[in-house]
Amino acid sequence: MSEKRRILTGDRPTGKLHLGHYVGSLANRVQLQDEYQCYFLIADLHMLTTRPAKEDIVALGGNIREMVLDYLAAGIDPAKSTIYLQSGAHAVYEMDLFFEMLITLPRLSRLPSIKEMARAARFEDEAIPFGLVGYPVLQAADILMPRAHLVPVGRDNESHVEITREIARRFNRMYGEVFPIPDVMIGEVPSLVGTDGQAKMSKSLGNAIFLSDDAQTVAKKVRGMYTDPKRVRADIPGTVEGNPVFAYHDAFNPNQAEVEELKGRYRQGRVGDVEVKEKLTRAINAFLDPLRERRACYEGQSGLVEEIIYDGTRRANEIADETLMMMKKAMGLAGVWNRISRKARGRKKKAGQED
Ligand code: TRP
Repeated sequence: MSEKRRILTGDRPTGKLHLGHYVGSLANRVQLQDEYQCYFLIADLHMLTTRPAKEDIVALGGNIREMVLDYLAAGIDPAKSTIYLQSGAHAVYEMDLFFEMLITLPRLSRLPSIKEMARAARFEDEAIPFGLVGYPVLQAADILMPRAHLVPVGRDNESHVEITREIARRFNRMYGEVFPIPDVMIGEVPSLVGTDGQAKMSKSLGNAIFLSDDAQTVAKKVRGMYTDPKRVRADIPGTVEGNPVFAYHDAFNPNQAEVEELKGRYRQGRVGDVEVKEKLTRAINAFLDPLRERRACYEGQSGLVEEIIYDGTRRANEIADETLMMMKKAMGLAGVWNRISRKARGRKKKAGQED
């Protein structure tokens, strides 16, 4: 196994990823791939905490494929990093159970993130599933499974990494040192505003540009973008600060001189929105072109995406089984079962019975 320090992070498979995901996390993950051994988890079991219905589970397949294609298009390299399916890593179910004993119910139920997820899923207080309260414990199992050192996540997941640290410390104290205490890495990049100027780009708000959008779709979405509402004519001086069109220019247009020049003329009322938006379309499409190329390459080879998930899940299972064995040994559980099976097998052998 490699000597690199390990990273674990991942996403619930809710479907296509957008520019906000790229700026907020994917770009960072692509960067970290060389320095760390990275595990990128597809958290399909976590989807069950709010959407356990059969039709939701069946729909996961398509979402998983889209999300992994976006990972690959963004530059996550399956030769360097492990992309794996949570539900295919059996050890996580067992670890989850052991970790449930190491954290209190009040500690979990007080978390704002759990309340927020319950609200978003429209669960009444009395109807919050046990499994949703356990969401952070399952997340701790994900993180501790490969004995990760570092967990890059957004602010909304910070408290879950803190829970993970508490569980890991508790385990080590009770049974012996098995886990490094993982550090959280919060992306400092401000999240990207939506095309409609709302604080966050999000699929459900309908204000997203997807990594898989083609050039015409990008052009159309940019044409419809929100700008400075006071500027009803091109000769009215406009505001650049907080203007989504310029936030995107800053994030995706590598030609800084062009951006500064546009900002100058915008402030003076000497440029039309059309020109600003056409240049932005060009910049976003130039940014997305290499992603499109990589996506086409992966999509063009039938079964390749599935093979990448399959191989990654097998690799994840190797380290997961190793960690699980370390845990059971430390806890004394391995010994209990070993003694019973050794005695039982001895008796069967004496009686000439096959095992
Ligand atoms: N909770 C993450 C989300 O908001 C998904 C996730 C599950 C995760 N397990 C994880 C993230 C482990 C980082 C590490 O979708």
